[in-house]
Amino acid sequence: MPFSYHNGNAPSLGPPQRAIDAAGFGKVAIITGCSSGVGLATTQVFLSHQYEVLGVDIKDIDYAKIDGKDAGRFHFHQGDLMAEGECDAVVRICVAKFGEKIDVLANIAGVMDAFEAADVITDHEWERVMGTNLTVPTRMIRAVLPFMKAKKNGSIVNVASKAAVSGAAAGLAYTTSKHGLLGVTKHTAWRFQGEGIRCNAVLPGSIDTNINDSIEKEHFDETSFAVMKPIWELHNPSGQKPSISALEVANVILFLSSEGARAINGVALPIDKAWGVI
Ligand SMILES: NC(=O)c1ccc[n+]([C@@H]2O[C@H](COP(=O)([O-])OP(=O)(O)OC[C@H]3O[C@@H](n4cnc5c(N)ncnc54)[C@H](O)[C@@H]3O)[C@@H](O)[C@H]2O)c1
Repeated sequence: MPFSYHNGNAPSLGPPQRAIDAAGFGKVAIITGCSSGVGLATTQVFLSHQYEVLGVDIKDIDYAKIDGKDAGRFHFHQGDLMAEGECDAVVRICVAKFGEKIDVLANIAGVMDAFEAADVITDHEWERVMGTNLTVPTRMIRAVLPFMKAKKNGSIVNVASKAAVSGAAAGLAYTTSKHGLLGVTKHTAWRFQGEGIRCNAVLPGSIDTNINDSIEKEHFDETSFAVMKPIWELHNPSGQKPSISALEVANVILFLSSEGARAINGVALPIDKAWGVI
């Protein structure tokens, strides 16, 4: 008889019997940006593999999107990660809820810019995009490291972008924030590899999510976008939905967090249907 997550002799009113899933059973993950897109898909995938998940987002979550059988292992915190002290607060909340162990940090929350180039970028837009996409993941890493060091084990996955390795995929602020996130990834990977902590990045192409809602459209830089457009068209033709799903990205994040990826540290992994080879 296989191991059971629940007591096999429990009366029939108890939850259904489920085998232990070695991917996530007994492990805790913090997932930022959990209310939408890649963050929501990652939350669903991790929960389905029996992780305990602390999800955080500035927007409320639709609990109907969380499978009832997983709800007991999910805690949602609504908060603006840009606010002072918020990243540390998220980790404190996770520890209070699930105990002093954090196995995975998935830095997923992010915003898109309006393709502004260096001639028109405003201070506000620079700070909004750099803060959300680069400063917040860095603060989250700083906040979880004491717990990962204590266990000599941990996996951090940063969601960067094709724009982390290309100057032709987004505006100046988004491009720079994601290039910076790769620096954080590599530095963290090497610095803490002796302490059992891994840090990797994924570089998705265009994904079918709600990220366009985060574009401040009143500042849209048409001139800059026109220069980027031929490169975009090679990957995501006008009028077509992005062909990469949030679930496909979530599955890669799950793999990078798993024991099967324990020798993978410091990589920047494209998920872009070969767009990155151009
Ligand atoms: N959609 C794409 O084409 C694409 C491509 C490459 C990389 N990415 C990256 O994927 C990640 C996820 O984006 P998505 O496409 O799922 O977009 P999304 O807009 O669907 O989800 C992003 C989530 O982050 C949350 N968020 C933003 N700022 C926050 C803050 N200050 N505090 C807390 N939560 C905040 C949003 O509320 C939202 O729920 C981002 O880092 C993005 O840069 C997206």
